[in-house]
Amino acid sequence: MCGIVGYVGPKQAWPIIIKGLKRLEYRGYDSAGIALVKPHEIKTLKKAGKVSVLEAYAADKDLSGTVGIGHTRWATHGEPSDRNAHPHSSGNQRLAIVHNGIIENYAILKETLISNGHVFKSDTDTEVLIHLIEEIQKEEQCDLTEAVRLALTQVIGAYAIVIVDKEQPDQLVAARKGSPLVIGVGENEYIIGSDASPIIEYTQNIIYLKDLEIATITIRGIEIRTVQNEIQTPSIHKLELKLEMLEKGGYEHFMLKEIHEQAFTVRDCMRGRIYPNEGKIQLGGLKDFDEKLKTANRIIIIACGTSWHAGLVGEYLIEEYARIPVEVEYASEFRYRNPIISENDIVMAISQSGETADTLAALEIAKERGATIFGICNVAGSSITRFTDAGVYTHAGPEIGVASTKAFTAQVTVLTLIAFYIAQLKEKIKPDAMKVLLTELDSIPDLIKECLKTEEATKYIAQDIKDINNSLYLGRGIGFPIALEGALKLKEISYIHAEGYPAAEMKHGPIALIDEGFPVIVIATKSSSYEKVVSNIQEVKARKGKVIAIVTKGDVDVRKSADFVIEIPDADDTFLPLLATIPLQLLAYHVALLRGCNVDQPRNLAKSVTVE
Ligand code: F6R
Repeated sequence: MCGIVGYVGPKQAWPIIIKGLKRLEYRGYDSAGIALVKPHEIKTLKKAGKVSVLEAYAADKDLSGTVGIGHTRWATHGEPSDRNAHPHSSGNQRLAIVHNGIIENYAILKETLISNGHVFKSDTDTEVLIHLIEEIQKEEQCDLTEAVRLALTQVIGAYAIVIVDKEQPDQLVAARKGSPLVIGVGENEYIIGSDASPIIEYTQNIIYLKDLEIATITIRGIEIRTVQNEIQTPSIHKLELKLEMLEKGGYEHFMLKEIHEQAFTVRDCMRGRIYPNEGKIQLGGLKDFDEKLKTANRIIIIACGTSWHAGLVGEYLIEEYARIPVEVEYASEFRYRNPIISENDIVMAISQSGETADTLAALEIAKERGATIFGICNVAGSSITRFTDAGVYTHAGPEIGVASTKAFTAQVTVLTLIAFYIAQLKEKIKPDAMKVLLTELDSIPDLIKECLKTEEATKYIAQDIKDINNSLYLGRGIGFPIALEGALKLKEISYIHAEGYPAAEMKHGPIALIDEGFPVIVIATKSSSYEKVVSNIQEVKARKGKVIAIVTKGDVDVRKSADFVIEIPDADDTFLPLLATIPLQLLAYHVALLRGCNVDQPRNLAKSVTVE
């Protein structure tokens, strides 16, 4: 969603905020703005477009000031335009606000404010909130913090906000509910961010603002209270993030860097958790729940997008090894059904960001109904990690490219570990068999390195298919979620329509699409369903479709009929998702590049979807 930065301290605020916005631009990139505050003056600069457009626009302006707020937007209410860009001002121009989230009851609040004489300049819900704060400040004759607090008691929805007041020019007031906000605590300075990326350059000390907390921040210190006006003691955490993790490190795009990092991120994810020589697996994050895992009736996996695809892989693996029934649910659907959950169910959320609004809301429902809640998240300290009873971090490091790559393989790695861990607890796998499995898992990072060598082949194929409008991705068994994920990667970054399908389902509909040259990407590695996939390829070829097949090294049969083959190393089916996904990510990347698309920031997408 949107990205927020705030600064108060002895330094000039503009350069710190603009740099912070660039680091957060992956969260939203349709417009950007900054407000600088001085006694009796707020200077607001905002432009539709990327942060660089704002920077160019501001180049000849006076940008002095040591307190300020900034925003990079992913539009929810109102088209991307200068007018709808944040910060938004109150009617009396005394206050300015940046906001991430959605004020759900904005329409009713707006009506009342209009009847009180307020005039609005934008189509946003955010402008309504700042007018409401202005109204309360006037009526109650109170300071900014109190006005914000009273306003938030009237608001329904999600928000992370930072507000400045030209009559209290040395302070920022920040608050959150449902949308993330962290505060970096430096030497006499504070930097606020939607995540830690704008902060890391200046300090390792951060405060995670909690839901319904309001922080009043000046150069002299920070005071936190709840919306119910209870004073809170802030707890300061140490960040583990390193600055170089947020840089491109010589790659043309973050996405390409993140694809290439996967051998290391999958290794990091297994570190300290697997002991192949002993045939043992250890998951510290779950150990207090061993009994629960042994006796669980059912596991329900909840996620969205790519994380949901990882969940489908998890279903296959957990059912195969741990013999517990698994259901995989779209969080957005689960939360609006009347799901049947019992105390013997475990609900597992998968989320890279740990902030996805639908996933969080689905967990709230599951918790209310008595389920034990686990999280598989990448971002430490994120909302989902704080909500769950236990969990396993994916340790993939910051993922900046909007299309998820290394987070997916790390999620799949964690799910593989969980499947083996439960199997170990329930003694479903004999120690010798576990040794074999863990030894093979331990070799996967090296095999990922092999898969990365398919990049030249994917570049070549990308040239051939770059002008297509439609495509089909097919897989069977554990290959099916890989087909879904491959299709999602292509469509989200190259804007080519791509559908993932179970290969055998093709003949129940999608086969009608296939005519001469229609591209069909098939996961056709050596597996129990290999022969059946070979038959599906024949069905495509019989209709003159173009087959691009991911095959096991040394494959003979598929090569005879496919137009292109991409070879990946041989491995047990269990580990296929960690390998076959790599060439599909590379293929999507190179097609998008050839089509001139913005690979790291695809249109209309945001990295973490903190609204419904
Ligand atoms: C696709 C992608 C999205 C996310 C989805 C869930 O490449 O990144 O589909 O997977 O928005 O996000 P998280 O995992 O942060 O909950």
